[in-house]
Amino acid sequence: MSQLPHEIAHTLTHFQQPQLVLALQTLPPEQQRQLLDQIQTVDFPMLRGIWQSAVSETPSATSDTDRPARARAPGNVVRQPGSTSDAEEWANAGRVGEQALRAGAVAIITVAGGQGTRLGFEHPKGMFPIGPVTDRTLFQVFAEQILARRNRYQAAIPWLIMTSDATHAETVTFFRANRFFGLDETSVVFFQQGNLPAIDAATGELLLAGPADLALSPDGHGGLVMALQNAGLIARMQHDGIQHLFYHQVDNPTAIIADPALIGFHCLRQSQLTTCVVCKTSPTERMGVLVDVDGHTEIIEYSELTPEQAAGHDESGQWIFWAGNTAIHVFDVAFLHHLTQKGSQLPIHVARKNVAFFNSAGVLEQPSDPGRPNAIKLERFIFDALPLATRTLIVEGDRQREFNPVKNKSGNDSAATSQAALNRIAHQWLQTAGYSIPSDRIVEISPLQALDHMELQQRLTAGILNLNEIRMK
Ligand code: UTP
Repeated sequence: MSQLPHEIAHTLTHFQQPQLVLALQTLPPEQQRQLLDQIQTVDFPMLRGIWQSAVSETPSATSDTDRPARARAPGNVVRQPGSTSDAEEWANAGRVGEQALRAGAVAIITVAGGQGTRLGFEHPKGMFPIGPVTDRTLFQVFAEQILARRNRYQAAIPWLIMTSDATHAETVTFFRANRFFGLDETSVVFFQQGNLPAIDAATGELLLAGPADLALSPDGHGGLVMALQNAGLIARMQHDGIQHLFYHQVDNPTAIIADPALIGFHCLRQSQLTTCVVCKTSPTERMGVLVDVDGHTEIIEYSELTPEQAAGHDESGQWIFWAGNTAIHVFDVAFLHHLTQKGSQLPIHVARKNVAFFNSAGVLEQPSDPGRPNAIKLERFIFDALPLATRTLIVEGDRQREFNPVKNKSGNDSAATSQAALNRIAHQWLQTAGYSIPSDRIVEISPLQALDHMELQQRLTAGILNLNEIRMK
């Protein structure tokens, strides 16, 4: 045991963390250093403030309960094409997006650091087999889309993948074992998000996960901004002439990766942050919605709305809370740089959860009472960047085609609904190409065979692709 640095001892005492003082005083030097390294990354004043407002239930900076009443349907919106002139506008946006892709001005970020607790899969979610016929994983679906886009536009289109402590090593090993699914290894960049500590809800003390370890969890998809900065990736993108970062989550295999139309609208409107939304199926659907509040674009979570509010219409009769968030965005890289320059971290959100902890008797305890969670867990959300942008754009996507995430073990947004969507889309593409496949057959089209129905039709007609090469069962 070595002497505790005076400054650290003072901070820990001041912010009422006696368990950390005791742990540090009793640990052998190597473990003391390990715990000290973790403690030195903690912003104690901020955490104290968050804990105090959480337990006193006074409104914090992130809980403005009056927002739903001030919300308006989003203003700057491109809806799905409903007329010939709309279709022309979409086709033009597609051409502009393709130019940006060809010019090497676009990179892709997949956020793949979550814990996937609802799905209950024991590996990183990207390794989940989602192909309705084959065992093609989520990562492979994205890799093949990216390879196909690179081939189509003869452009580099770098792929960034954000992992967490829990998913990093296994994700990298998986890509290596699969030879990067045919992508050039140097064109795929893995980087890790940060962590935030869990707080004892009763005392405000940071929980320990072991004798020399804080109980840490990934800092949410909003950790992306600082993780990109810390890995030097914002500077690298700017140096390499990348202006637009296409963002998507690892759980939606039908996201159109680097969607030219979405990127094109983003460029044409000089947006700093563009979001793809889909129309909610009903006011009670559990989906965050994009709205305007006091002149800013924001997201309101379904849990913030009463059923009456969720069904609310404005003076013109328009449904206010229709624009469901798909978590598909395009970021202007200069805007990301601006977010880091301001040093303004995205706000922290709190959730009460049960977290295993190393108690004062040196035993790992696992609280399980769902009615009295022992801990406050902290996360940042990427959509909190929306109100920080001065120019945002909302583009309505085709829900059936683009938004079929795998969140839950069963029911809504599960592997079954997502696989059914991949099968349905494949049937539709084949039908448009003039092939009618019996409805009881299950079909899977690789993105390397076609990225869209037009490509499928062209390749089948030209004999570049044979129907028997498409996997069916
Ligand atoms: P979710 O909000 O669905 O969280 O993540 P999750 O951890 O994957 O799943 P649950 O809530 O525990 O069931 C949405 C996306 O954000 C990423 C996930 O990998 C997923 O792509 N994410 C989430 C991160 O990259 N880091 C995080 O800290 C949280």
